[in-house]
Amino acid sequence: MTLKELRISKGFSQQNAANLLNMPLRTYKRYELEKAYENSYKYKAIFNALKLIEKKHKKLSENVFSKICIIGGGHVGLSIGKVLARKYNVQIVDIDHKKVELINKLKLDNLVAVGDLKDTSKFEVAIICLPTNFNEDTKCYDTKSIEENVKTISENNPAALIVIKSTIGIGFTESLQIKNEIIYAPEFLREKTAFEDALNPDRLVVGCSKISPKAYKYASTIESVINIPRKTIFMSYKEAEAVKLYSNAYLAMRIAFFNDLDTTAMKEDINTKKVIKAMGLDPRIGDYYNNPSFFYSGYCLPKDARALSNLVDSDLINAIVSSNENRKDFIVKTIIEEARKRNSKPTIGIYNLDTESNGEKYHQSSSFEILEILRKYPVKVVVFDKNYQESVNNFEEFCNASDLIISNTYDDKLETVKTKLFTRDLLSKR
Ligand SMILES: NC(=O)c1ccc[n+]([C@@H]2O[C@H](COP(=O)([O-])OP(=O)(O)OC[C@H]3O[C@@H](n4cnc5c(N)ncnc54)[C@H](O)[C@@H]3O)[C@@H](O)[C@H]2O)c1
Repeated sequence: MTLKELRISKGFSQQNAANLLNMPLRTYKRYELEKAYENSYKYKAIFNALKLIEKKHKKLSENVFSKICIIGGGHVGLSIGKVLARKYNVQIVDIDHKKVELINKLKLDNLVAVGDLKDTSKFEVAIICLPTNFNEDTKCYDTKSIEENVKTISENNPAALIVIKSTIGIGFTESLQIKNEIIYAPEFLREKTAFEDALNPDRLVVGCSKISPKAYKYASTIESVINIPRKTIFMSYKEAEAVKLYSNAYLAMRIAFFNDLDTTAMKEDINTKKVIKAMGLDPRIGDYYNNPSFFYSGYCLPKDARALSNLVDSDLINAIVSSNENRKDFIVKTIIEEARKRNSKPTIGIYNLDTESNGEKYHQSSSFEILEILRKYPVKVVVFDKNYQESVNNFEEFCNASDLIISNTYDDKLETVKTKLFTRDLLSKR
């Protein structure tokens, strides 16, 4: 049996095998691919090590954490909590009492929420899902609440594994000097499909100082509750932190790229849709995640792109941030011009603020940002959004009052008012 056959028979990817053997992927691949290595002493050593590691891995994978504490019960914490509660006991700690009440009202088996971190000795693992907002003064993430919670846990339960899930800067996990073992397990879910994404993750990444029994145990715990078979990719803290930040920066870059193309197309009277469709036929570019929008928004992409731009010396990362700001200015300017073409004292209607159903996150949508910017201009603005208090309630009334209707995403309901519509959502439904 060759090394490759052995690896496949055990269900490991090349990356898994390299991680488990604690060697660079490139080196591992060389041993699989190059015939000349097959009789070498090192080849045999790697072969035998892989055999042993699987046994150890299997044994350890029977080991899972069953008393879990999650700190922060928002999009990330609650979704992961619900997934873990399919099998294990989960306690969510959240300082927002309304959230605690809401979670407890769900009456989910194995899951309870509490208002503060009291009896820390009851759990084996603490998963930190606290917000890391961008601090405008330091230009870095605000990690104060993570540091406070890590300190409380280490003082009261030094045996607990601490897992950081919040998005943090490169080097942050390593900088925490505590007795507890700590790992960084970035989260990649999307807000609108948070639970489904947590249940069906496309990758599981764990950053650690070494692949210890506790790190394995955490990986096995997550692997045992998700819907699809996935093997955790182990790497160093900094590598895992970089995976998260560069993934979000790439997504922001892709949105900014197609929006930038759309800006030029609008200025040059070029059909954006035709250009993007033809570009997408190249499989290296692909026909996905290429739909123009007003600009990228939401909780994560803006703060993560800005944080990375401050962390690294990179013209490209800086340009993602400035390109999005320029797009914002261009979109607002165009909206005002389009509205004034229709009426010198125009009323601009905003259709849907792209908020969540609980209406808590208005300030993170691009439509809401546009609403706030437009308020500084001498134009009248009306909103149609069932979650917004000052919304016009009747759709017809909203359309009649508006000289121009803007919508970040297209909706069939807007078909009847096409002539008044301004959207850059060109590819999703039309
Ligand atoms: N939202 C996403 O799609 C997403 C995806 C991947 C990673 N992340 C990252 O995960 C982290 C959490 O994001 P989120 O979207 O879940 O945020 P969120 O705002 O939805 O939830 C955070 C929760 O933490 C609670 N909280 C705040 N301070 C607290 C404290 N001191 N003690 C206990 N609870 C406290 C809040 O009440 C809130 O319920 C962030 O670092 C974010 O960047 C978010």
